[in-house]
Amino acid sequence: MHDILQKEIALYEKRTPKSAEAHKRAEKRIPLGVASNYRGYDPYPIFVAEGHGSRLRDVDGNEYIDHNLCFGALMAGHGHPAVVKAVKWALDNGTTFGMPHGMEADLADEICARYPVEMVRFGSSGTEATMHCCRIARAATKRDKLLRFEGCYHGLHDSALVSVKPKAEDFGDIHAPNSVPGGMGVIKAVLDNVTVATFNDLKSVEHRFQQHPGQIAAVILEPIMMNVGICMPQAGFLEGLREICTKNGALLIFDEVKTGAKLGWGGASEYFGVKPDMIALAKSIGGGMPLAAFGASREVMDLIVQHKVFHGGTYNTNRVAMAAGLATFREVLTRENYAHVEKLGKKLEDGYRTIVKKSGLQAYVIRAGVNGALMLYPAEIKNYRDWMKIDVDLWRQFWFGMVNRGVLAMPYWWDEQWTISVQHTEADIERHLAAFEEVAPGLAKAQEERGAKFVGAAGH
Ligand SMILES: Cc1ncc(COP(=O)(O)O)c(C=O)c1O
Repeated sequence: MHDILQKEIALYEKRTPKSAEAHKRAEKRIPLGVASNYRGYDPYPIFVAEGHGSRLRDVDGNEYIDHNLCFGALMAGHGHPAVVKAVKWALDNGTTFGMPHGMEADLADEICARYPVEMVRFGSSGTEATMHCCRIARAATKRDKLLRFEGCYHGLHDSALVSVKPKAEDFGDIHAPNSVPGGMGVIKAVLDNVTVATFNDLKSVEHRFQQHPGQIAAVILEPIMMNVGICMPQAGFLEGLREICTKNGALLIFDEVKTGAKLGWGGASEYFGVKPDMIALAKSIGGGMPLAAFGASREVMDLIVQHKVFHGGTYNTNRVAMAAGLATFREVLTRENYAHVEKLGKKLEDGYRTIVKKSGLQAYVIRAGVNGALMLYPAEIKNYRDWMKIDVDLWRQFWFGMVNRGVLAMPYWWDEQWTISVQHTEADIERHLAAFEEVAPGLAKAQEERGAKFVGAAGH
């Protein structure tokens, strides 16, 4: 470990002894001491005491400007007053019934007004939403295979856990990547039915359709790959996928778990002007409550009406999540708030860019709606394999350096990005940039000293 990183981690440990203690205790009963693998990292994660607006306080009393925001699930920020009011009302009037209560149609109307779908069903997580999209697409086409992109993330069901973060030795040809299980326990039959292509490479998609004629039910993707930092679709890529799907009778599924709320009012389909056949939504639509939705045309969703595809769930449309979702769509994800966060996003992006330039750091800055990232690469990444080539310890220096200066610049892991909430202010952005101004020269220095030999395989 290089000098500056060692010093930053030592400082982190000095500032967070109660988190270390809490983690040690949790490890005894909980694998890795955390409830989701993404939350665990060395030496130990920060344990949170409370969150308000754009800020978090940890169990040691340190305060942070929060751009992690629960891996981007909190564009509302912590405890948005409209969400809190709605949730309190739900808590006082019955949280969950296993019976309809009227809010379902209200929220379905909100969703159908923004996204190009005619009917929706609800759930609690992004994993559920993409899982049901995949199954319905298989039913709608009477085909078994899915096509997905190396490096995209769609949650934790078996079909989603293929080629999420494959190691370089398992890659295969870049125009025909191998289907690589994302850990043990993913059944072989699933691997046989999930074929993989390369993001921004339409030829690799066409090749798969030629290889499996009449067998691919759907193409699923994040319209912006946001589990490798931020990887934008190149001009024509999404339009090309639309065309290939239509030509081959396959459905196009946009996994908008990240982009749906945060890219803009109408999500990626509006932003890019490309209409998918199905959409999966979660994270920021719930204002901090577990809420997900998936939708499609009336014709496709009719498979549920006809009892041909089964969908259920005890906690679906529980009134706490629905109240939070309605408040979020009506009072948080408003045109006015999108204008506010756009202004802050631009300020943060421009500020980062100026500092990068001044420091001589080999990096670029990219933004998509309220999300953005400092990308420690000399040139814009186009796919997962480009993303792999990063100096991970340099990124860790950035992350711990920012944390030690009171800014959670993004979630831990170099495949993530910052989120700005509607409760962030200009002053928050200025503090964020002041911290980066302090960290950047050390990054540039370490980058120069370490050179290219530390640029390596970044999977986790
Ligand atoms: C694009 C995308 N799809 C699906 C998921 C899974 O969502 P969840 O963690 O709510 O199951 C995520 C989570 O990060 C995601 O980023």
